[in-house]
Amino acid sequence: MTQTADWYARAAIELAGTSELQTEWARGMATDPELLALIEGLPREHRQPSLLFSAATWCGAPPAAYPIWRAWVLAHAESVAAAAATRRTQTNEVGRCIPLLLGLDRVTASAVAPIALLELGAAAGLCLGVDRYSYSFDGGTILGEGAPLLTATTTGEGRTPTRMPNIAWRAGIDLAPLDVRDAAHVRWLDALLPPDRPARHERLHAAISTLATDPPRLVAGDAIPTLAAVAADVPPGLTLVVACLGTAVYLPPPDRAALPGAVAALGGHLLAFESAASVPGIPDRLTAMSAPEPTPFVLSLDGEPLAYASAHGDRVSWLSASD
Ligand SMILES: C[S@@+](CC[C@H](N)C(=O)[O-])C[C@H]1O[C@@H](n2cnc3c(N)ncnc32)[C@H](O)[C@@H]1O
Repeated sequence: MTQTADWYARAAIELAGTSELQTEWARGMATDPELLALIEGLPREHRQPSLLFSAATWCGAPPAAYPIWRAWVLAHAESVAAAAATRRTQTNEVGRCIPLLLGLDRVTASAVAPIALLELGAAAGLCLGVDRYSYSFDGGTILGEGAPLLTATTTGEGRTPTRMPNIAWRAGIDLAPLDVRDAAHVRWLDALLPPDRPARHERLHAAISTLATDPPRLVAGDAIPTLAAVAADVPPGLTLVVACLGTAVYLPPPDRAALPGAVAALGGHLLAFESAASVPGIPDRLTAMSAPEPTPFVLSLDGEPLAYASAHGDRVSWLSASD
């Protein structure tokens, strides 16, 4: 089995629960030399299963069973390979505002000044609108008024927010920022979601509608090299929070290693919601902690793991010191 075939075989397992359709496509591709040959020549990051599926959808592939989908992709091989080669994974998951909100609530508990929120790898900036949506934890009171309503269940011992964070300034950095007012960019945001998850598409469009009249400022650039210049625009007296949500894994390893120091040098807080291994120091800290429902994604603040959460934020499991 080639490395790419193996990658798709693993994706078929990892995508279970995310999308039945993409699971079927990944399983089919893992044993389909003709289709694998289509992407074998691309740089590794552009052979990523979810990127290829998004590229195919972007080009018009039908949300159909593998034999039909495969025939379509082969018939449009050139355009699909070109889209996979030039685009990047930019899934802007509004559900990550749930762990973001929990982390901002923790910052607010110990800081009096309003927050300056700077997101690295912001995509279309949907998570920068964290205080413009509404939330309900464990079926309780709704916090906020805007759409979408984001819901989560929690396990373990932790505090859920009772008020919105006071965000006085916000901006994002992305290698290729997406504009929620640009129809082609919105079409790409849609293509990045599995076609068989209508609720995720609805949530995406609700967030786009909420932000469309006043979208957050996005700066095109490489996260770590651009960070200090964008942070220089933060008005004096605010509490800087640099958020990194589902993005650290895409940074080159030296930039990932430099992230905590770069944020500390600016006097800011690093709020990360990432796979544990993507944030320096987190795997070591986790060895002395436990939570009722561990997941691959960890919410951390300044290197302190706070909670595990599902990749889309709807299940949160608070961490505490192991007995
Ligand atoms: C998976 S998306 C996550 C988007 C958003 N943070 C969220 O959680 O919904 C990762 C984003 O990081 C951006 N990205 C990847 N490498 C980057 C880098 N070195 N500098 C800035 N942005 C980067 C990509 O363009 C993409 O929009």
